[in-house]
Amino acid sequence: MLKHDVIIVGGGLAGCRAALEIKRTQPNLDVALVAKTHPIRSHSVAAQGGMAATLNNVDPEDTWEAHAFDTVKGSDYLADQDAVEILTREAPDVVIELEHMGVLFSRLPDGRIAQRAFGGHSHRRTCYAADKTGHAILHELVNNLRRYGVCVYDEWYVMQLILEDAQAKGVVMFNIRDTTLQVVQAKAVMFATGGYGRVFNTTSNDYASTGDGLAMAAVAGLPLADMEFVQFHPTGLYPVGVLISEAVRGEGAYLINAPGDRFMANYAPKQMELAPRDITSRAITLEIRAGRGINLDGSAGGPFVYLDLRHMGKEQIMSRVPFCWEEAHRLVGIDAVYQPIPVRPTGHYSMGGIPVNTDGQVRSSAEGLVAGFFAAGECACVSVHGANRLGSNSLLECVVYGRRTGAAIAQYVLDKKFPEIDEQSYLKAAQGEIKALLEQSGTIRINQLRQNLQDCMSQYCGVFRTQELMGVGLQELKQLQQQLPQIYLDDKDKCWNTEVIEALELRNLTVVGEVILSSALNRQESRGAHSREDYPQRDDANFLKHTLAYYSAAGVELQYKPVSITLFEPQERKY
Ligand code: FUM
Repeated sequence: MLKHDVIIVGGGLAGCRAALEIKRTQPNLDVALVAKTHPIRSHSVAAQGGMAATLNNVDPEDTWEAHAFDTVKGSDYLADQDAVEILTREAPDVVIELEHMGVLFSRLPDGRIAQRAFGGHSHRRTCYAADKTGHAILHELVNNLRRYGVCVYDEWYVMQLILEDAQAKGVVMFNIRDTTLQVVQAKAVMFATGGYGRVFNTTSNDYASTGDGLAMAAVAGLPLADMEFVQFHPTGLYPVGVLISEAVRGEGAYLINAPGDRFMANYAPKQMELAPRDITSRAITLEIRAGRGINLDGSAGGPFVYLDLRHMGKEQIMSRVPFCWEEAHRLVGIDAVYQPIPVRPTGHYSMGGIPVNTDGQVRSSAEGLVAGFFAAGECACVSVHGANRLGSNSLLECVVYGRRTGAAIAQYVLDKKFPEIDEQSYLKAAQGEIKALLEQSGTIRINQLRQNLQDCMSQYCGVFRTQELMGVGLQELKQLQQQLPQIYLDDKDKCWNTEVIEALELRNLTVVGEVILSSALNRQESRGAHSREDYPQRDDANFLKHTLAYYSAAGVELQYKPVSITLFEPQERKY
């Protein structure tokens, strides 16, 4: 059995930042990080537009209070304000720390870190590295993992959280190279496993974003919080869905419908293209529904709108958003210097996740905590984003709460002994699961079932929702779940058997999908990204509260938890 003081699952920003914090504060601790891809291929690498922090390099009037207010208003007042205060107060410090680690941020002419406008932010506060900010940060964090001696298991897939008597004791994982299994015994387990974008058929997320950590926590009997709040990013490249960064609008691009109007004037007259994402995604969807979308031949009535950069000029496009230019050029043959880019909303981010306190410790209920279990980043819900996240607050959350969680873990493990684990029983169960998958004599291909699931979630739980739609969606999803034992694996080999992983990921996606739909069905109001056509108003009297959803094979049970309101009383949200 492998043994580490701390095992961190996930190699993106939150996991790496936590690992470094543990080693910086307690160098003698044995810290391991396990990831199903190489850490520099974690989805954080795809983050583009930037990281918000009130450095005041561009806007001397900005304050952490203004950042906190924008975040809470953006969240439609569901964010926990004590957590938002920590996020926004600590933001400048974590950016400077990253700079000192070697992150190459873009600069102002005088050498200070540049800052740009972003949706829902009242000041220019988003620090960036062109439109490859996640790439710049993740590479430096991974370099630092080596420097601090963190043990990295890359291309290992974690199958199970070992949770006994309300205590996390380790994980079961297998080596993708040869399918060998290992139990890891640890004094503390941290999940930083990212999101679940692949539950939808159009997403900006990479293929690895399959909600594994969320599903493992849910299957272990722990709650998932606020899973009904799914962010659809307004500008997914049509038809592929990859991200065209909000930075493009931050740098001045327009959204244009078929008649050629900047239609955001009708939805958010003050903020226009820089309204928060929930509002902008709804606006685009309504334009398309009303027949003012555009077809590939330029005629009206089509499935996308235009993102128009042409007035920005080649120099600004190529220096500020070169990657977005490249994506449009490479993937759909558009030269954005001369042609508008076709865009429409794409599944992007999970506001919900594994509920944690502000030290990253996982909650077992509204009151209880799980011993030895921590989480941060997109898989966690602390909750700083509430019902709708502002762009450039997620990299910030990963780094602020990655650092805090690392510091909390370093303290937590100091007086702890290694827990007892019955290694053989876990190995036997995992071996049995893989053997059963390989021997399953079904007829359904994994990709077919996954596609059906993604189509179901996109059709019944997208930008706009109703009771009726989601009810049909939940029924359909349960039928799809029943087909899991009928999937057929072509690859029976032990070497690089990615089909086994796809099968496990598919099971995880169905768990996450069921929790999203069940949580969404019960929230009979519209708040942030959860937009109910049958309940179009926000209903603070009944729903100013967090959902806690407990998954089991019998269904999802829902409980609720109060919102922390320490700074700003809820108001009507106007932009
Ligand atoms: O549009 C973007 O660059 C995405 C940023 C974010 O999700 O924070």
